[in-house]
Amino acid sequence: MTVLLRASNLTRTYSSAAGDVHACVDVSLEVSAGELVVVRGPSGAGKSTLLNLLGTLDKPTSGTIEIDGKEVTALGEDALATIRRDHLGFIFQSFGLVSILSAAENVELPLRIAGVPAAERTERVDEALERVGLEKHAEQRPSELSGGQQQRVGIARAIVSRPHILIADEPTGQLDSRTAASIMDLLAVLAHEQGLAAIVSTHDPLLVARADRVIDIHDGRITAVRVNDATAEPGDETEPSAEVPEEGAEPTQSESSPAEPDVEEQSEVPPTPPLTRKALKIQRAMTGEIPIIRFSDDGSAIDPRGETPQGG
Ligand SMILES: Nc1ncnc2c1ncn2[C@@H]1O[C@H](COP(=O)(O)OP(=O)(O)O)[C@@H](O)[C@H]1O
Ligand SMILES: [Mg+2]
Repeated sequence: MTVLLRASNLTRTYSSAAGDVHACVDVSLEVSAGELVVVRGPSGAGKSTLLNLLGTLDKPTSGTIEIDGKEVTALGEDALATIRRDHLGFIFQSFGLVSILSAAENVELPLRIAGVPAAERTERVDEALERVGLEKHAEQRPSELSGGQQQRVGIARAIVSRPHILIADEPTGQLDSRTAASIMDLLAVLAHEQGLAAIVSTHDPLLVARADRVIDIHDGRITAVRVNDATAEPGDETEPSAEVPEEGAEPTQSESSPAEPDVEEQSEVPPTPPLTRKALKIQRAMTGEIPIIRFSDDGSAIDPRGETPQGG
């Protein structure tokens, strides 16, 4: 399997008045084409820090990152923006949709910003919406969609640029458990069928059933790695953890078919708040118009000039 994402000895230390925070400590991992890797840990474990580093939205204090075989840690902002645009698809907990745009227009936005011609945009938007099971909802605005459907739009927007790598930070954090399972199923299908390398964080222990590999992190460190036997290649390293649920612990409510869009209508997620400026900022960061940007758990942007990596 081709390794598309490789982190070696990643460390990220935040400096604050209260002292140093070791949010990522000596993390090494690889994600291959066709693989769904779940990063699991409680709130504050360092999941967002790790995913921001892997997505080149933040710089490590030390360590290196390879994307599609290219070492990116030393690259400047323009080159990183190009890498993000061409190789990475981002999915956010708060969906990051523009409330005044339809589902199709939201999905189209990265292609518009990238200057893709109109005819090709239409074709690719249709394809992406179909891929997530939302072709019948193309004209609806986010407020007219359930939470699960909104996240499907977010996923369609992430794959419409045909990235090789998907990075999703708690994409199911605002969804009920049944909808969350169907979103995780969809991400697994995308990884397996389209050969994407997908890395997804969650704090929900029940959402690991579809993962090919589960990486537990606590206090910024990898504490356990578990390879799902059903999908493991011979020779994969396994370090079973007593804390990881066995197969029997997988959620019983996740039996729905992966691309089935109609299982989540009871979602209680409130309508998308007026996020226009923030969502645009996210879009622009994803497609390289804004040099660097990071996101807190609610998807809001953190000004990176607020603090700088130690030693970087
Ligand atoms: N910009 C920052 N400045 C200082 N500390 C931070 C910053 N971002 C995150 N942290 C700290 O780093 C640790 C890991 O945070 P985070 O990566 O957001 O965890 P998770 O996503 O697993 O909840 C936490 O202790 C958090 O408070
Ligand atoms: Mg987080």
